[in-house]
Amino acid sequence: MSWHSPLPLPEDRELEATLRPRRFEEFVGQRGVVENLQVYVVAARKQQRALDHVLLSGPPGLGKTTLAHLIAHELGVNLVSTSGPVLERPADLAGILTRLQPRDVLFIDEIHRLPRTVEEYLYSAMEDFALDVMLDRGPHAKTIRLQLSPFTLIGATTRPGMLTGALRSRFGILEHLEYYADEEIREIVMRSARILGVKITPEGAGEIARRSRGTPRIANRLLRRTHDFAFVEGDGVITGELARYALDRMGVDPRGLDALDHRFLRTLVEQFGGGPAGIRALSATLGEDPQTLEEVVEPFLLRIGFLVRTPRGRRITRQGLQYLGLSTTPDLFGG
Ligand SMILES: Nc1ncnc2c1ncn2[C@@H]1O[C@H](COP(=O)(O)OP(=O)(O)OP(=O)(O)O)[C@@H](O)[C@H]1O
Ligand SMILES: [Mg+2]
Repeated sequence: MSWHSPLPLPEDRELEATLRPRRFEEFVGQRGVVENLQVYVVAARKQQRALDHVLLSGPPGLGKTTLAHLIAHELGVNLVSTSGPVLERPADLAGILTRLQPRDVLFIDEIHRLPRTVEEYLYSAMEDFALDVMLDRGPHAKTIRLQLSPFTLIGATTRPGMLTGALRSRFGILEHLEYYADEEIREIVMRSARILGVKITPEGAGEIARRSRGTPRIANRLLRRTHDFAFVEGDGVITGELARYALDRMGVDPRGLDALDHRFLRTLVEQFGGGPAGIRALSATLGEDPQTLEEVVEPFLLRIGFLVRTPRGRRITRQGLQYLGLSTTPDLFGG
């Protein structure tokens, strides 16, 4: 996987915890989402009730986990964290739900990966704050209803389309996060630098922002790596010039594309005549996992207009060809 992928790396963990905004005022960007959530949180707090269940969707590294923690903090309640694949059996879920305090937040990351048997138990928990537990099997089977404390479920997903309608309909609040504007990422970089005690000029922050694919996780990671260069090969300050030098050295180009993106686009042109090509064929030719291509490489290339999806597969655009410095020959576009 490419090192500036939006997926979390093990070494991000500690850094992410330090840099995570804890209050609505500190959270940069996603204005529409944040302003709505703020209203819902204030209303729930004033009425002394649990906040409605929240579903947060959007590409990796844009702040879903951050927002879940922030909401719990602003509500003044505990957050209990788990994830879809970890909840293997209904008993795993029951164990967590029965221990929640009134109005606590239960955060389920990757909720699209929740096993169906577990999901079915979640329905009554979300709707009635109750769990129907089956005792015994066969002729003596009976169910008892366990009452739970009112709680807020916050689900996060990068694949909202994979959720069942039944689960989705049980969320009262649905919010989608989008890629950040460069200016917002610049603000996030400045904030992170302040917290980490890193010296950076506005130009330096702007250069990192332009190459971060609109993704705070990548921006924070590039900030740290760039600081290493400033520290070892410069005078410790991240200037525009130093940032350009360091990011070039890291193989991150001026639009934030890395070696894998370049390989992907070149393969599409050189082996598939520009496309359309199916994801399986591309993945086999590149020797890369199709999921990485679909979740990491493609969303960004689609977003910046270098790639389009057609019913018959992916195709490079004129803009993509121009960027690679290839001629936009008429035959690639059918005349
Ligand atoms: N709006 C923001 N302002 C400042 N920092 C942010 C913001 N959004 C995200 N970050 C930073 O980016 C990092 C990644 O965010 P987060 O872990 O919340 O992403 P995510 O959407 O949960 O990703 P994943 O889908 O991989 O779980 C956080 O550690 C946080 O420091
Ligand atoms: Mg997360």
